[in-house]
Amino acid sequence: MSTPPDREAPAEAPIEALFRRRWSPRSFTDQPVSDAHLASLIEAARWASSCFNAQPWHIVVARKDREPAQHAALVECLSGNNQAWAPQAPVLMVAVARLDFAHNGNPNRHAAYDTGAAMAQLALQATALGLQVHQMGGYDMDKARAALGIPEGFELRAAIAIGHPGPASALPEELAARETAPRQRRPVSEWVHYGAWKA
Ligand SMILES: Cc1cc2nc3c(=O)[nH]c(=O)nc-3n(C[C@H](O)[C@H](O)[C@H](O)COP(=O)(O)O)c2cc1C
Repeated sequence: MSTPPDREAPAEAPIEALFRRRWSPRSFTDQPVSDAHLASLIEAARWASSCFNAQPWHIVVARKDREPAQHAALVECLSGNNQAWAPQAPVLMVAVARLDFAHNGNPNRHAAYDTGAAMAQLALQATALGLQVHQMGGYDMDKARAALGIPEGFELRAAIAIGHPGPASALPEELAARETAPRQRRPVSEWVHYGAWKA
């Protein structure tokens, strides 16, 4: 795994190294993601749990070297901030959630939750292979839906950049500073409620 030591999460209780080493870089090298690695990422997502085992997730994958038109189209959909770094990623994708259950057509209230869980597994598998994932909410979903032909009844969730992390020095100054800023999380005491909710 190629996570720089300063990117490793300073966990306060023991956790697997994989969790500490996953992070969201903005700098990616030119190295493509191999077919075998991409297949492993997808397989990790495939084995996520989901409500009714409905597996509501889809992904639309745009590899810079194999689907260059869709990669460029996705870049066009990104917010300005994300356009400053994400075009370098060799793989861009969009996570999509099916909004109804295939078996009865009822609305699936858990579709987004399950899709997020699958993408979390994908991200951790990426870390295990020396890759990293950077998810993005900052993009024009309507434009991406049209560009990638995603039908109604399927909700676009995060756009996702995947690649081998590169040096912070390859980024513009402001992004380089964010790339090396200390990693932070809310303290557990703020969001863990034992017994009942405590304000
Ligand atoms: C749903 C979602 C949307 C996000 N949107 C963006 C985004 O538009 N641009 C960006 O640079 N990072 C985005 N991020 C990345 C977060 O900022 C990042 O995960 C967070 O700061 C924690 O950092 P870490 O992933 O390195 O632990 C997003 C992450 C998620 C899960």
